[in-house]
Parts: sequence; C-alpha cells; structure tokens
Amino acid sequence: MMVDRPALQLDAVGLQIGGARILHDVTMQVGTGEMVGVIGPNGAGKTTLFNIISGVMIPTSGTVRLAGDDVTGHKVHQRARVGLGRTFQTSSVFAGLTAGENVRLAAQSKLGGATSPWRFPRQGDDAAQVADRCLQEVGLAHHTDTAAGVLSHGDKRKLEIAMLIATEPEVVLLDEPMAGVGSGDVAGLVEVIRRLHASGRTVLMVEHHMEVLLGLVDRVAVMHHGELLAIDTPKAVMANPQVQKAYLGETV
Ligand SMILES: Nc1ncnc2c1ncn2[C@@H]1O[C@H](COP(=O)(O)OP(=O)(O)OP(=O)(O)O)[C@@H](O)[C@H]1O
Ligand SMILES: [Mg+2]
Repeated sequence: MMVDRPALQLDAVGLQIGGARILHDVTMQVGTGEMVGVIGPNGAGKTTLFNIISGVMIPTSGTVRLAGDDVTGHKVHQRARVGLGRTFQTSSVFAGLTAGENVRLAAQSKLGGATSPWRFPRQGDDAAQVADRCLQEVGLAHHTDTAAGVLSHGDKRKLEIAMLIATEPEVVLLDEPMAGVGSGDVAGLVEVIRRLHASGRTVLMVEHHMEVLLGLVDRVAVMHHGELLAIDTPKAVMANPQVQKAYLGETV
C-alpha cells in the first residue's frame, strides 16, 4: 500500500497556541489509495490535525507534505487545487438550496466560476453534469430537486460527500461522517464511504463509531493529548496496551 511518495506525510508536526500544546511531534505517512482512521478521546487533537492537513491552521513546528510537496504554509484553496478535500464535523450544506444546487456550487468552484475566474470550464463537463454524476455516486439522484434542509441526517452527510467528490479530490478528510446519523442510515453511508475509497482516493476519517471504522480502514491512527500514540492495523492497535490505557482514561 505504501509508495515512495506518500499521498500525505507529516514530520514532527506541532501546534502551540499561547502556552497550550495542542499537537506535539506528530509524524505519519499515508500511502496513495490508503484509508486511515483517526481515533482518540474528545479533545485529543483529531480535528486540529485535520485543520493542519487542510490548511485551516498552520503548525508552529514541523512539515506537511502532499504527494511529496511541502505545503506547510499553503492556504486552504492552494491545497484544494493540489487535490485535498474535506468535510466538517458539523454539517455544512446550504439548507435552502436543493441537493442539486449544493453540488453544482461545489462543482462550479472546481470548474471555474466566480471563485476562480482564471480557469475555463473543461469542455463537455459543466457543473450540472458533474452534479448529476456525483449525486448518483452517493445514491442521491432521486433527491436532486429536494431542499437540502429537509433531507435526513444520513442523506445530508451523503450530500456533503457528493459536494466533496465534485471538487475531484485525491486525498479526502472526513471528520465524523456518521455524527448525528440515525442507525437506519449508517449502513448506506458506510457503503458510500467504502466506494469513495474503492475508487482509488486516499481517505483519512475521524470516527467515534469504532465498529464502523475498524471494518473500513487499512490502518488506525490513535491520538491522545495531542500526540500520535500509535498508527497500525486495526488489530494491532486494539491489542496495544498503551491504546487500551488511553481509552480507560489512565495516564500513559
Ligand atoms: N483555536 C484554538 N485555540 C485554542 N485551543 C484550541 C483551538 N482549537 C482546538 N483547541 C484545543 O485543542 C484540543 C484539541 O481539540 P480538537 O478539536 O482537535 O479535538 P478532537 O480530538 O477533534 O475532539 P472531538 O472528539 O471532541 O471532536 C482541545 O483541548 C481544544 O480545546
Ligand atoms: Mg473533533
């Protein structure tokens, strides 16, 4: 699974805010096409790690590389252009727009609309076509004209993934994609995430639903107090005594 130039490489990444050490010495590599789950207790630094990978936050030490290129100081839109996409821990769809309109807006940002006037849309691939394809990929084609606000939580999460796919990312970060999703919707959403990965994309996913996560990922990264405690196969991570202690709330 690992290749010479990993899709994502973090070297000794740290984040200090005021006196607080939010992240410390995080080093990890994620291979192209690999799927890595990120777990850890609340406040462990999982979302902060995603913020640093996506450029929402700049680390105070260490480097972030995408496909070998140092992007440590690069802004969010620069990283999006080299293939990084993410969803957020809280839902981020426009409730008043239809599902189709939400995805068209996302596609437009990639194809070249108001947000990137220097780019020309590719021939024969307009935002509406991209939106249709993306909604189909997540199984929401029948909801194209439904207002996003009335979709179930599970379908909203699928819509966010459709919006993500519309930007054609190679590396995707999913922050708690199952959060708030009813149990009846979980299996469908898991299938969408499985396909997202099966189509060759590199995926990092924070998820508290352990049985869902362990069944999906190649490896698991365990965060604890801002440090990377372990990164290994699901089986090895679950057998790791340090990880067991972290989850029992003992000091390690
Ligand atoms: N901008 C900030 N300024 C100060 N502290 C911050 C900032 N962002 C995050 N933190 C702190 O960093 C720590 C890690 O937060 P983070 O949101 O990354 O945790 P998490 O692992 O995603 O938790 P959860 O499982 O609850 O989503 C927390 O103690 C949080 O309060
Ligand atoms: Mg979080």
